[in-house]
Amino acid sequence: MNKYIDTVEENILKTYNRMPVVFERGEEVYLYDTEGNKYLDFVSGIGVIGLGYSNEEFIKNIQDQASKLLHTSNLYYNTAIAEASEKLVKVSGMTKVFFTNSGAEAIEGALKVVKKYAYEKKGEGNYEVIAFEHSFHGRTLGALSVTGNEAYRKPFMPLLEGVKFAAYNNIDSVKKLINKDTIAIILEPIQGEGGVNVGTEEFLKEVEKICNENDILLILDEIQCGVGRTGSFYRFQKFGIKPDVVTSAKALGNGIAVGAFLVNEKLADHSLKPGDHGTTYGGNPMAGRAVSTVIDIFEKEDILGHVNKISAYFEDRLKDLASEYDFILELKGEGLLRGLKLREDKKVGEIVNKALENGLTVASAAGNVLRFLPPLIIEEVHIDEMIEKLKKSF
Ligand SMILES: Cc1ncc(COP(=O)(O)O)c(C=O)c1O
Repeated sequence: MNKYIDTVEENILKTYNRMPVVFERGEEVYLYDTEGNKYLDFVSGIGVIGLGYSNEEFIKNIQDQASKLLHTSNLYYNTAIAEASEKLVKVSGMTKVFFTNSGAEAIEGALKVVKKYAYEKKGEGNYEVIAFEHSFHGRTLGALSVTGNEAYRKPFMPLLEGVKFAAYNNIDSVKKLINKDTIAIILEPIQGEGGVNVGTEEFLKEVEKICNENDILLILDEIQCGVGRTGSFYRFQKFGIKPDVVTSAKALGNGIAVGAFLVNEKLADHSLKPGDHGTTYGGNPMAGRAVSTVIDIFEKEDILGHVNKISAYFEDRLKDLASEYDFILELKGEGLLRGLKLREDKKVGEIVNKALENGLTVASAAGNVLRFLPPLIIEEVHIDEMIEKLKKSF
């Protein structure tokens, strides 16, 4: 184990304080380290491995695609991305998709889309975008520009001009920031990194209304909360909201790097044109096969039905836990994206470390929140096992 840790520390630029474990393989909802220890995984690679580590159909299709064709570039068509695009457009209810390699790239694309729309419609201008305090949209410069975390942004100033931050779930603070130059509002239906803050249905609908009334484009970042995590394919679909742009990544590829931004009809016709945007890897056959397979498995195995059913049990068990420990201040989140807000003196980082020692991976989020992002296929026994391991760690 130490050999691998030393090699990583020696060679990889230190932008992460990694935990002292070296994973070698995964099986269903468990991870195994080089020492043969088994870990129940309630992080799933930060919400990526929705279908678990050993879905047979997924592995078979990835192996098949690897032996057929990995990459061709976007100079040509390929079979896998054709299928993936049709399925993703259908399941999202959007009109067109652009495939990227990551979440941050999807955000970059979304920002370019709204800028291009404004440019086409109104010409050059000092356009503004409203984002939210405590939001997280990624680490590239455009995505950082709309990320409401001063510590992440400060060393990289100046970022994109014209970004203003409103308070989440506070419609008045949004209204105050709107002016004639506002072209878009970008928000996560649930803020994941920012503390598992759930955007209320009322707030999300109000934002949609304001956008419609003021010719402002609505970008919903479903990178963490989407792809089944809260029981619908995308969370906005629960409320009948119609965004102009949706960003997606993480669980979309179940471990194969892929992201996407999707646009509605208005933007499909009036934003990015040939020459405005591109990517070498984005939408490669392997990514296409992964997306296509994920969507097929969602249907065949009724993943959404399972998430809805198991979420109720998860919530009950977390509620019981919260009532047992006085340092748990609040149960947050929805579906299988959950958080426990802990009292300041009970440091979440210490609990995360202890849990790892006890064979459980859990994550943290801002505001001393313990964050759970289990694979979507977890069963009651896994939730029971997690609760036991967490109690031991407390
Ligand atoms: C809501 C949200 N948006 C964007 C991103 C950035 O995605 P990526 O790390 O794939 O660039 C993340 C990553 O955690 C996220 O949670």
